[in-house]
Amino acid sequence: MKKIMFITTALLCIMVFMTMAFADQLGFRKRRPAYHEYANVVINNFSAKNKIAPVVYNHWLHRSKYTCRVCHLDLKFAMKGGGTGITEESNNKGLYCGACHNGKEAFGPEEKAESGEKARKNCDRCHSYGENVDFKYRFYRYTKDYPRARFGNGIDWLEAEKSNLIQLKDHLEGISSKRETIKKPGEETFKPKEPEMPDIIFSHDKHAVWSGCDQCHPAIFSEKKGENKFTMEEIFAGKYCGTCHGKVSFSTLDCQKCHVKRML
Ligand code: HEC
Ligand code: HEC
Ligand code: HEC
Ligand code: HEC
Ligand code: HEC
Ligand code: HEC
Repeated sequence: MKKIMFITTALLCIMVFMTMAFADQLGFRKRRPAYHEYANVVINNFSAKNKIAPVVYNHWLHRSKYTCRVCHLDLKFAMKGGGTGITEESNNKGLYCGACHNGKEAFGPEEKAESGEKARKNCDRCHSYGENVDFKYRFYRYTKDYPRARFGNGIDWLEAEKSNLIQLKDHLEGISSKRETIKKPGEETFKPKEPEMPDIIFSHDKHAVWSGCDQCHPAIFSEKKGENKFTMEEIFAGKYCGTCHGKVSFSTLDCQKCHVKRML
């Protein structure tokens, strides 16, 4: 009896494994994240090891307040989950999260106590993975008036910015360098190797609302026309345009947003 149980369990495990491996190859192993989960990053280099809940960082709230370049250029956050190596000590020195979460720009680890009152700890608002936290911001309430999109956060972020529903801060006092106005090219057209697919139009203007030149050049794209050779498969795998699209910017499932072929 025990033996049959063992073999059945083993067989089941192998089947689950095979399905997962197969699905992985096709790229749909991961369940599509819900709107409020899209672009959330769980940071857990040190938390669990130090017996505190891992950190959940949300892009939907922060990108409604700041441009990408404030964090990814000025504050030097890596564009890779866990890639920065943030510690509580570095935060307390005013780096990374602590550049804002210092009790001035945003809540700090502890709220100052008024005389006699106990200080309120804010640890769980960041260290929230698996915890039941009373957040100040709730996704669906906070974003209910934003223009909709089908995938990703379900939000058309470009439109939200254009229609002034959000105002992006592009400067942190004492930290951000002065933004120079650099001449940038206009639009680039990519012709897909599959002639049935509409052309892709890449707009420097639309990207410049959020991202700085150094976020893309030279690490992701060469500034030399014709030197960037990549495929859709690599984009789906998180490279080139997929460095941002499919992770934080609109989803790679939204084919028509890139494959637009201009109407003449
Ligand atoms: C603004 C967000 C934020 C707040 C508030 C915050 N932390 Fe953290 N903390 C982090 C991040 C990010 C890390 C890095 C997490 C990782 O890699 O596991 C971290 C790491 C830690 C670690 C792991 C060990 C180490 O030294 O880095 C401990 C312990 C910790 N925090 C304790 C606390 C305590 C206690 C509080 C409340 C008094 C607190 N944190 C408040 C963001 C925050
Ligand atoms: C308030 C700061 C902040 C802003 C604004 C911000 N990010 Fe991030 N971003 C982070 C942090 C923190 C991480 C996680 C880094 C880590 O874990 O070390 C991250 C991670 C990422 C990742 C990797 C995600 C993954 O799953 O691996 C991408 C891609 C990214 N950001 C793109 C963007 C884009 C595009 C924008 C603008 C639309 C943006 N970020 C705005 C702080 C920010
Ligand atoms: C560029 C500034 C900036 C940086 C950097 C930043 N934040 Fe924030 N964050 C804010 C602001 C502003 C708010 C809104 C605070 C408020 O209204 O009380 C906020 C709110 C939050 C909230 C929402 C809490 C709630 O109760 O709803 C979380 C969680 C959070 N931040 C985590 C982080 C973590 C973790 C990091 C670092 C990985 C980080 N933030 C880095 C500016 C920043
Ligand atoms: C979101 C990513 C991204 C950002 C941000 C970005 N670029 Fe680009 N850039 C590209 C891509 C993609 C190309 C097209 C390369 C190709 O055609 O192979 C390009 C091409 C270029 C070219 C060559 C164009 C030509 O016609 O020869 C220059 C010059 C350039 N970028 C400068 C800039 C400057 C200056 C900024 C900042 C103001 C900037 N870029 C911001 C992605 C970006
Ligand atoms: C550094 C991050 C980053 C990279 C790399 C990047 N994008 Fe974007 N892109 C954004 C952000 C941020 C937006 C604003 C909208 C959003 O986040 O959903 C955007 C918007 C767009 C839009 C505008 C959609 C509209 O509604 O008008 C198009 C099209 C687009 N990207 C195509 C591309 C293509 C094609 C590439 C690769 C050649 C690329 N992007 C690379 C960050 C990036
Ligand atoms: C973030 C922008 C973006 C999105 C979203 C996007 N594509 Fe693409 N796609 C590109 C770019 C850029 C190329 C051109 C690559 C090159 O230079 O050949 C491309 C090329 C292709 C090609 C030609 C073959 C190849 O590998 O180059 C096919 C087929 C394709 N895409 C299908 C799709 C489908 C299907 C979807 C939606 C599920 C989609 N794409 C979503 C940017 C995008």
